[in-house]
Amino acid sequence: MRLLRTPTLDLATPENALAPEVKERKVIIDLKDVKKVYQMGDLEVHALQGVNLKIYEGEFVSIMGPSGSGKSTLMNILGVLDQPTHGEYYLDGVNVERLRENQLASVRNKKIGFVFQSYNLLKRTTALRQVELPLIYAGASNRMKRAKAALTAVGLERRMDHLPTELSGGQQQRVAIARALVNEPAMILADEATGNLDSKSGSEVLQIFQRLNEEQGITVVFVTHDPWIARHSKRLIMLRDGKVVADQPVPQPLKAGEQDRPSEAAELETIFKSTYYGATKEEFN
Ligand SMILES: Nc1ncnc2c1ncn2[C@@H]1O[C@H](COP(=O)(O)OP(=O)(O)OP(=O)(O)O)[C@@H](O)[C@H]1O
Ligand SMILES: [Mg+2]
Repeated sequence: MRLLRTPTLDLATPENALAPEVKERKVIIDLKDVKKVYQMGDLEVHALQGVNLKIYEGEFVSIMGPSGSGKSTLMNILGVLDQPTHGEYYLDGVNVERLRENQLASVRNKKIGFVFQSYNLLKRTTALRQVELPLIYAGASNRMKRAKAALTAVGLERRMDHLPTELSGGQQQRVAIARALVNEPAMILADEATGNLDSKSGSEVLQIFQRLNEEQGITVVFVTHDPWIARHSKRLIMLRDGKVVADQPVPQPLKAGEQDRPSEAAELETIFKSTYYGATKEEFN
């Protein structure tokens, strides 16, 4: 299936992506000409090729793009798990390049909650203990109480003593989310957090993200291959070949769990109507 191709990509200007009231908020992520080159022997892989991006406090952003377009590379940089090879990243006004390793670890632990596609849970560790670990690492008090509250917030109050093998995929991902939010981070970064989940579990995860965003003002940035999931965000950024090729608001973001999913063709049509940039449908799967 070939969809309409927009001849110009002037939608890529970030100015178009934001409602005026959003721009009055604090900039939490500010990338200036960020490039990432991986050295593979003699070969250089240009995973990011000059990304400029501002994300404001309280935004709910999805990132899409074909496989290999640099989404995970970008997320790892945003989560200070990795550093750019060129350009600057200001997180909450601080240039992360200037931070020492222990300061980076502290930013990672306190400001950012990271959720991965493969839940990254410890095998022989109960849900409660998994969620307590970041608190132990941060030297926080009231650890048990806070871990229980985080698990309750994701609907797992009756699964606290379960090991990962005793939980469904969706439940394991919710443990990972509880672990990401237990330190009350300013920002949640999720790299295909719903990628391994069936649509009901995916919808539950989305509901949690939307609630955190609406009720607590937590900034959420997530990567997805799924246009339907992306339609639940408020702003959609498209990457291609390590560049931002489109950046625009999502018209009437969906509420998780409230609508039935339309046919795949219809949803692709809707989301790509104005931002489609020439990839084949297969590249998004
Ligand atoms: N550690 C690494 N060393 C070398 N090259 C890498 C490394 N990580 C990623 N790359 C390369 O950088 C490019 C971007 O990879 P990245 O993982 O960011 O893509 P992606 O958009 O997340 O793809 P996917 O949708 O498949 O997860 C790819 O060409 C990839 O092969
Ligand atoms: Mg990836």
